[in-house]
Amino acid sequence: MKAAYINRYGGPEQLVIGERPGPECGPHDLLVQVKAASINPVDWKIRDGKLKLMIRYRMPLILGQDLSGVVVKVGSKVSRYKSGDEVFARLDKGNIGAFAQYAAIRESDAALKPSNLSHVEAASIPLVGLTAWQVMRDMVGLKSGQLALIHAGSGGVGTFAIQLGKVLGATVCTTASVKNGPLVKRLGADKVIDYRLERFEDHVKEPDFVFDTQGGETLLRSIAIAKRGGWVVSIGSVPTPRVMQEWGLPLWKQWLAAILNRKFTSLAKARGVKFDYHFMSPSGQQLAAIAKLLEDRKIVPVVDKVFRLDQAREAFAHAEAGHSVGKVVITP
Ligand SMILES: NC(=O)c1ccc[n+]([C@@H]2O[C@H](COP(=O)([O-])OP(=O)(O)OC[C@H]3O[C@@H](n4cnc5c(N)ncnc54)[C@H](OP(=O)(O)O)[C@@H]3O)[C@@H](O)[C@H]2O)c1
Repeated sequence: MKAAYINRYGGPEQLVIGERPGPECGPHDLLVQVKAASINPVDWKIRDGKLKLMIRYRMPLILGQDLSGVVVKVGSKVSRYKSGDEVFARLDKGNIGAFAQYAAIRESDAALKPSNLSHVEAASIPLVGLTAWQVMRDMVGLKSGQLALIHAGSGGVGTFAIQLGKVLGATVCTTASVKNGPLVKRLGADKVIDYRLERFEDHVKEPDFVFDTQGGETLLRSIAIAKRGGWVVSIGSVPTPRVMQEWGLPLWKQWLAAILNRKFTSLAKARGVKFDYHFMSPSGQQLAAIAKLLEDRKIVPVVDKVFRLDQAREAFAHAEAGHSVGKVVITP
């Protein structure tokens, strides 16, 4: 089958578009004919080898973690899906490979594709949707009447998180450049701060929750303004020791994580702010709940651009430039 893969870690030149053997369908798996797959920053971070401390992959490695497609075969222990079902999923981190004509996904990671969405639209959702869901609903428990600051409202995560924030009843402020102001307002943002010209701390006072997608100075400045007792959750910084432990990584990596997070954790402690990193995980059950929001049109997908699989290098270059609005999608 045709796939976009790497033989070794490295820059954009390492991405190969060529033939690979089709995936095995295990007893708990669905073999899916991929109709669309979306790019996430984690794809080029894996290609670059930046996640080596967290997870090591065997080469050659087909990239891609988000897909929408049609089930063509089910494993012997699969009970909820059958051939012909249209599903979407975020693949398990140990079993990625969405940038291909076929992928094997765990039954527990899949959900039925929202009936009102195309495969391209559906493929844009799982990773960013689950990230926002797990942070805003499960971790923070964002409630009606609370104030949320979402960094990079025009990005893949941000476009979903703004809408989820409104579904949960929060007042949503977001940072975006001026050209993306109208879009993030349409998605529901109550206030837009032009991150290139303005300082967000001049416009947002004591938010109950800050969703940090940037790390570094933005994260530090976010902890500095969050409400006492409020939450700052980062997905764009360095994983905390808790995440390293959850992943079963050795003590020395947990210590390293503690050192790298020291300035964030000590400021959070001094200010009485809850701070943590979140690494999202797949969940078919949560994805089914997200599908309902999409079917009810409470949340709409935002697709920036669609590329063919044989244009995967161009698709990566476009997404990696860091200015896509919503998601970049690849079709086989
Ligand atoms: N830990 C996890 O589980 C997890 C899950 C998902 C994502 N992430 C991470 O979260 C980050 C964001 O992911 P994403 O998919 O949303 O990225 P993305 O879609 O590639 O983000 C691009 C968008 O970010 C905007 N942007 C760039 N710098 C900005 C800044 N300083 N302030 C405000 N907006 C800015 C850009 O707008 P302009 O063109 O205006 O600059 C662009 O629209 C990445 O680092 C990704 O790896 C982590």
